[in-house]
Amino acid sequence: MLTQLDLLQTEGLAALSSIIDEAGLESFRVAYLGKKGSVTTIAAGMRDVPPDLKPAVGAKLNEVRTTLTVSIEEKLLGLQSAKDAESVTGIDVTLPGRPSTSGALHPLTRIRDRAIQTLRRMGFALADGPEIETEWHCFDALNTPADHPARNEKDTFYLPDGRLLRTHTSSVQVRTMESVKSLPVRIIAPGAAYRRDEIDATHLSVFNQLECLYVDRDVSLADLKGTLEYFFQEMLGAQTQVRFRPHFFPFTEPSFEIDVKLEAKGQEARWIEIAGCGMVDPAVFQAISQQRGDALFNPDEVTGFAFGMGIDRLAMILHSITDIRHLIENDVRFLGQF
Ligand code: PHE
Repeated sequence: MLTQLDLLQTEGLAALSSIIDEAGLESFRVAYLGKKGSVTTIAAGMRDVPPDLKPAVGAKLNEVRTTLTVSIEEKLLGLQSAKDAESVTGIDVTLPGRPSTSGALHPLTRIRDRAIQTLRRMGFALADGPEIETEWHCFDALNTPADHPARNEKDTFYLPDGRLLRTHTSSVQVRTMESVKSLPVRIIAPGAAYRRDEIDATHLSVFNQLECLYVDRDVSLADLKGTLEYFFQEMLGAQTQVRFRPHFFPFTEPSFEIDVKLEAKGQEARWIEIAGCGMVDPAVFQAISQQRGDALFNPDEVTGFAFGMGIDRLAMILHSITDIRHLIENDVRFLGQF
């Protein structure tokens, strides 16, 4: 039996050296060490070995088993590293790697976030409203009569059910005033607005606005002016000059358009219209009060200011972008500059 075991080991090691792949190695393992393998079969014969020979045969048996197991493991490692080496032949692993480019926030997102941060420091909180709106929230509650040009089918996207894609974020003013429980109301409402505009270098039919509303018992025009001056100086630089020009909006009285003075290098400074604003028209408080059925927004007791601006426009001014369409084309050659 000892010679039989010796023979098995020599034969086994010889067979092992000629194996060329992992499948072959596995069948070898099964043939020798598996349940019905040769080593296992011999081990079963231990029963019949005379007691005085048992220790020697047992030791030999263990030796053969260990030798084969270790050799199989070594062979496996050898086969695997040969395979690894083969998979990189022809590749120069000393070449420098390809740098991976990292993404960044879209310039519009960055400006919107900065505007929100600036206004939050002044006590404004985020508010939201749907982009598909009712005529009430977009127009009626905002003192905008049925024959106002903004309501024309040529200017607004109407849905078959009479609702519409909001033409401004001012609808969020209404939604907020309808639902709050107490004063003051101090909100920032950023979001998309829709108009049937012909698309060109300065117009898109979907654009981004940012709306603010402040309502309390004694909000004044001075508060509006101070807030906007601070806001634009934070956004565009401390030297930024802001100008208020009388204007008309149905939902504010008095109303203004706000211009900022831009000093581009080598060019004459010019005023650019950047936002609309005004003191909330008492007619709006009236409509809200009727809708709410309480006196929280009693037009005789509360005042407020509102302003709204295009974020796309702000981005164009801030980065001297000449065509608004660049902002939505997702061309990385353009976006990579910010
Ligand atoms: N909603 C107005 C617009 O889209 C802007 C505005 C907002 C004006 C708030 C006054 C107050 O043009």
